[in-house]
Amino acid sequence: MRTPFIAGNWKMNLNHNEAIKFIDDISYKFENKNNIRIAVCPPFTSLRSVILVLEDEMAKNPNMIIKTGAQNMYFEEKGAFTGEISPEMLKALGVEYVIIGHSERRELFEETDELINKKLKAAFKHELKPILCIGEPLKIREEGKAQEYTLGQLEKDLNDIPESELNNLTIAYEPIWAIGTGRTATPQDANEMCKAIRQKISKLYNDKCAQNLIIQYGGSVKPSNAKELMSMPDIDGALVGGASINVDDFLAIINY
Ligand code: 13P
Repeated sequence: MRTPFIAGNWKMNLNHNEAIKFIDDISYKFENKNNIRIAVCPPFTSLRSVILVLEDEMAKNPNMIIKTGAQNMYFEEKGAFTGEISPEMLKALGVEYVIIGHSERRELFEETDELINKKLKAAFKHELKPILCIGEPLKIREEGKAQEYTLGQLEKDLNDIPESELNNLTIAYEPIWAIGTGRTATPQDANEMCKAIRQKISKLYNDKCAQNLIIQYGGSVKPSNAKELMSMPDIDGALVGGASINVDDFLAIINY
C-alpha cells in the first residue's frame, strides 16, 4: 500500500517573511483528512525560516506533519562553486527532500541527464530523498514519442543507482506542456505514463521496487482536478506548483 505524497514546489516565490506567514496560516487551518505525506519546497532563502516555524507549529499540533524540501542542489560537497548549495548544507538545515531535474532547470539552466544523475547520487549519499522530475515537451507528445522520451530520461537519470536507494526516491511525472499553463493532462493520459514509469522501474530493478515506488503527477494540479487525478491507480500524489503557494488551494488539494 503506497501512502500518497503531495508536495508543493514554490518555485521562485515567497521571500522568508511571506513564507513564515504562509506556514502560520496553513498551521491555523491545517487538516489532513486523507492521511497523506506532505512537503513544501521553498526557495533556499526561506528554508531555514520555514523549518523553524514548522517545528514550532508541529510541536503545538502533533497531527500536523509537513516536511521540507529544497528545489535544487549541486552534487559537489564543498568548494569553489559560487552560487551553489551542497547536499550537506541542506541536510544540516533539516531538509528531507530535494527536487532534482525539474523541467525548468533542464530547459532554462541546461541541466543534462548526466548532471541530474550526479545530483541524484549525491542526494542519496547525504540521505536526502530526491523527487526526480521527468516529462516531455509538447512537440514530443504531438509526435507520439512521449513515453520513449520520458522513459529515456528515467533510465539515464537512474544510471548506476542501486536498488537499495529506490525506497527513498519519488518520481514526478511532469509533462512540460501542462506546467503553469492551466492545461492538465487527462487523468487517463497521466496515469498511462505513470504506469509506464512503473513498468520501466520493474524492468530496470524489479517488481517490488516498482510496486513500492511513489509516482506523483505535476502540471496545473488544482483543487478542481486533484481528486480525479489522485483516484487513478498509478498516480500516488502530486507535485503542485502555482496552487501550492495559496494556503486554501494547497489545503484543498491535500484534502482532495
Ligand atoms: P504548476 O502546478 O504551476 O503547473 O507547476 C507544476 C510544477 O512544475 C511543479 O513542480
